[in-house]
Amino acid sequence: MPPDGPARIAVLTVSDRAARGAYEDRGGPAGAAWLDKVLTSPAEIRREIVPDGADSVAAALIGLADDWRADLVLVTGGTGPAPRDRTPEGMAQVIDFDLPGFGEAMRAASLAEVPTAILSRQGAGVRGQTLIVTLPGNPRAIATCLEAVFAAVPYCLDLIGATRIETDPAICAAFRPPAARA
Ligand code: MTE
Repeated sequence: MPPDGPARIAVLTVSDRAARGAYEDRGGPAGAAWLDKVLTSPAEIRREIVPDGADSVAAALIGLADDWRADLVLVTGGTGPAPRDRTPEGMAQVIDFDLPGFGEAMRAASLAEVPTAILSRQGAGVRGQTLIVTLPGNPRAIATCLEAVFAAVPYCLDLIGATRIETDPAICAAFRPPAARA
């Protein structure tokens, strides 16, 4: 049985400068605002900020997935090729398996907007009953990427035994195969 009550969704900002307060986090609020706009079912949204680096990302993801029991974690930042961009390595340390279609769809949508999207290493994976999706740090890029993948997120949560969520079809119509519709 999937868990009862509101879905638990975390938005994890990965940024050295935001974590030490040298820079206002814009990715986290953008991710949370997009969720607020798209979700029509109850959700508890929690935001965290950690410094760049595989170990800080891995530790935060374990806390959110295992202790807080998040259904979905959106990670923003650290997906590029710069020396401190190690979000994908952090996620890789903690997931049970990856879902390569998320990265493929996000890069395809982003490449239609900007050639440097090819530099991004966004992706997704599952840890237990938590779906983790990594996004770029730029707020506009976050919207592009979420628009590219979110239609599949509700059914993915169903399949992994997480809390059921519903979306506003005017923003993003969740797709569930006919046999799976409630
Ligand atoms: N995707 C979109 N839609 N728009 C963008 O401006 N910037 C790219 C890429 N994806 C971008 C994008 C760049 S320049 C980088 S380095 C990577 O995302 C990684 O961003 P991050 O390090 O903030 O995670």
